[in-house]
Amino acid sequence: MSPVSDSSNRVIPGPQEPEEKTYHPSDGLFTDAHVPDFDAYLALYKKSTEEPEEFWADVAQEFYWKKPPSGQMLQFNFDVNKGNIYIKFMEGAKTNICYNVLDRNVHERNLGEKVAYYWEGNSPNHHQTITYNQLLRNVCRCANALKLLGVKKGDRVAIYLPMIPELVYTMLACARIGAVHSIVFAGFSSESLCERIMDAQCNILVTADGVYRGDKLINLKKTASEALERCKESMASSVQKCVVVKHNAFRTNSDASNKLQTPWDESCDIWWADLMDGVSDECEPEWMDSEDPLFILYTSGSTGKPKGVVHTVTGYMLYTSLTFKYVFDYHHDDVYWCTADIGWITGHSYITYGPLANGATSVLFEGVPVYPHVGRLWEIIEKYGVSKFYTAPTAIRLLMKYGREPLQQYDLSSLRVLGTVGEPINPEAWLWYYDVVGQQRCPVIDTFWQTETGGHVLTPLPAATPLKPGSATCPFFGVQPAVLNEHGEELEGEAEGYLVFRKPWPGIMRGVYGNQERFESTYFRKFPGFYVTGDGCRRDKDGYYWITGRIDDMLNVSDVCSGHLLSTAEVEAALTEHPSVAEAAVVSRPHAVKGECLYCFVTLKDHKEFNRTLMEELKRKVREKIGPIATPDFIQNAPGLPKTRSGKIMRRVLRQIARNEKDLGDLSTLADPKVVEVLFSQRWEAAA
Ligand code: WT7
Repeated sequence: MSPVSDSSNRVIPGPQEPEEKTYHPSDGLFTDAHVPDFDAYLALYKKSTEEPEEFWADVAQEFYWKKPPSGQMLQFNFDVNKGNIYIKFMEGAKTNICYNVLDRNVHERNLGEKVAYYWEGNSPNHHQTITYNQLLRNVCRCANALKLLGVKKGDRVAIYLPMIPELVYTMLACARIGAVHSIVFAGFSSESLCERIMDAQCNILVTADGVYRGDKLINLKKTASEALERCKESMASSVQKCVVVKHNAFRTNSDASNKLQTPWDESCDIWWADLMDGVSDECEPEWMDSEDPLFILYTSGSTGKPKGVVHTVTGYMLYTSLTFKYVFDYHHDDVYWCTADIGWITGHSYITYGPLANGATSVLFEGVPVYPHVGRLWEIIEKYGVSKFYTAPTAIRLLMKYGREPLQQYDLSSLRVLGTVGEPINPEAWLWYYDVVGQQRCPVIDTFWQTETGGHVLTPLPAATPLKPGSATCPFFGVQPAVLNEHGEELEGEAEGYLVFRKPWPGIMRGVYGNQERFESTYFRKFPGFYVTGDGCRRDKDGYYWITGRIDDMLNVSDVCSGHLLSTAEVEAALTEHPSVAEAAVVSRPHAVKGECLYCFVTLKDHKEFNRTLMEELKRKVREKIGPIATPDFIQNAPGLPKTRSGKIMRRVLRQIARNEKDLGDLSTLADPKVVEVLFSQRWEAAA
C-alpha cells in the first residue's frame, strides 16, 4: 500500500486545528462507572500491556468454555522478515460464541425474560420486542433449518438482509453450528454481492423479498437473483439454496406487494417461513476451537477488489464484549442503540456480538434518520429511553442541518453516553452532539477502529478520559499504538505520521480470506513488525491521538448512518467499464454532511461527447456496479489527466483541483503541466 498515490512531499494530510479546551465527563453521572477516573484507566491499561496473560484470563472467566483456555494465551508474528504473519489467541480452548451470547444469558444469568432487542421498523408502526428467550429459540430454529439444508461447520453462508430480526437470527445460527457468515450490506449491488459470494464460495444465500428505506422500496430479491445469475454465468456458482424472508412489513403494506415482483427459481429458492416450519427450537451448539473462523466481512481494498477480512471465535468474542462494556460503560439497566447497519463491522461488533455478550437491551433500527420526519432518531430515543447512543459523524452533520427544534420536541434526558465512529468527527459536529444532543451531560466517545481491528482500538472511556473534540484520545486495553515516519522510524512524544500497532489484541483480524499474501502485503509489509492501519495520525503533548485520515487510495464514504471505506480503484474500474470512457481518476472532496464525497475525472475516448446524459449514465454505472453509497457526486470531463513522466496519475493535483485549491506546489514531475490549467478552467462543468 503506498502512502500516497503520487509524488506529493506531504505524506500525511494536515491535522485538524488543535482544540485546546478539554471536556471532563460530568460529575455525578457516573457514580458506578467501571473505570471511574483516568488513573484507573492507566492502571488497567498498564496491566493489559504488562501482564496480558492475567488480564485476558480474568476477562475469559465470565464466559462458558467447553474446554477452558490453557497454555499460551497469545502467539503471533507481526514481522514479515521472520516468516508468515499469524495471530493466535487462546488456541486449543473450545467454546461457542452463540452459546455465550444467548444460552449463557438465559441459563446462567437469568436474563431469559430480558429484552434483547426492540426492533423498530422503517415505519414507526412496525415494531417488535424480542427477549433473550425468544432470540435463543429463533436462532436455534434457524440453526436447525440451516442444518436441514446441509450446512456444516466451516461452510460459508452469505447473508443479504435488511435490518430485521432474521438478520440477527441467521448470523447467530451460523455461529451456533460453526458455519462462517459473510454478511453483505443490503445496499450493495448484484455485482458486489456476486463477487463476495464467489470469493467465499458460499453454499447458501439468505435474503428477503424487499425492504423500504424511507419511502423508497428496494427489491432485494431481484438484486439477489441477479447476483446468483451472475455467479452462474461465471461458472463459479456455489450457492445451492437461496432462503427468502418474506419481510413482515410488506404484509401490512398492500402498496408494496403490488409493486414488488419477486423473481422465483423453484430449484433454488425457498421461503424462510416454509423452511422454519416445524423445525425444533433447540439446537446443540457446535464446540469450536478458539481460532476457528467466525465470519468473513468484506472491506474495500486499494486494488479495487474487496478483501474478505476473517475474524475468529474467541478473540473476537472477548474483545467485542469487553470494549462494549467499558467504552459505553454498560450497565444492566441501559438501553443501548447503535444506528449502524449490521452489514458493516460496527453492526457485527456493536449491535450483535458485543451487546448480547453483555446481556444488553438494544434498539435494532431498520429505518433512516429523517423518515418519516427529521426527528425520528430523537423520537426513538424517547420511546425506548435510550441511555447509550452510537452513531456516525455523517448522521450528526445531517441532523445538525435541521437545528435544535426537532430535538426539543422529545425528552432526551435518558441519554448518558454518546458514541461516534466511522471517520474523523469535526469539532463543530462534536460540539453540537455534546451541547445540543447531550445537553453537556454526556461524554462524546469518539471511537476509532476498522473492520480489521474487530473492535474499538482508540477511544475515550466515559467517566475516565478527559475529552478533546476531534480526538479519539487513548488506546483501549491491550492496544499498543505507535507513530512512524515515512522511513518506518518510530516517533516519540508529539509527532505526526503513520498510525500502526506493535502487537495484536484479541479482536484483530486473522487474515484475508483465501489470500495470505494480500493480508501480509496490505497490513504488514510496509513496516515490518507493525500492523499498518492506513490512517495518518498526530499525537499531541498529552499523548492523545488525532486521526488525520487515510493515507492510501481509500475514501471514507457514508450511507445515512455510518461511514465506510471505499477504494478509488473500485470506482475507477466501474467508470472505465462505460464504453465512452478511456480513463478515470477518482479523488475525495470534503462534503458538508457526508464528510467526504467522490469527485471523478473522466477522459473520454475519441469522438465521444461529454454531456449530462453521459454523466447520469456514469453515475448509474457506479451505482449498479458497487451500490448507491459509491454514487459519484461530481464528474468532470478531463481531456487529459495530470501524470508523472512515468505515467502515474498525480492524485494530489486532482484532489486540489476538485477542492479548487490554487496553490499546487511543486509540479516539476508533471509530464504536461498544461493539463492542470485546462482542468481548472473546466471545473464549472463539474456541478453535480
Ligand atoms: C476506517 C475504517 C470501524 C467501523 C466503521 C468503519 C475511519 C473509523 C474513525 C474515527 C477517524 C475513523 C478510518 C479507518 N475511521 N472510525 N473515530 N476517527 N477515522 O469501518 O469501513 O473498516 O473503515 O474508517 O479511516 O481506517 P471501515
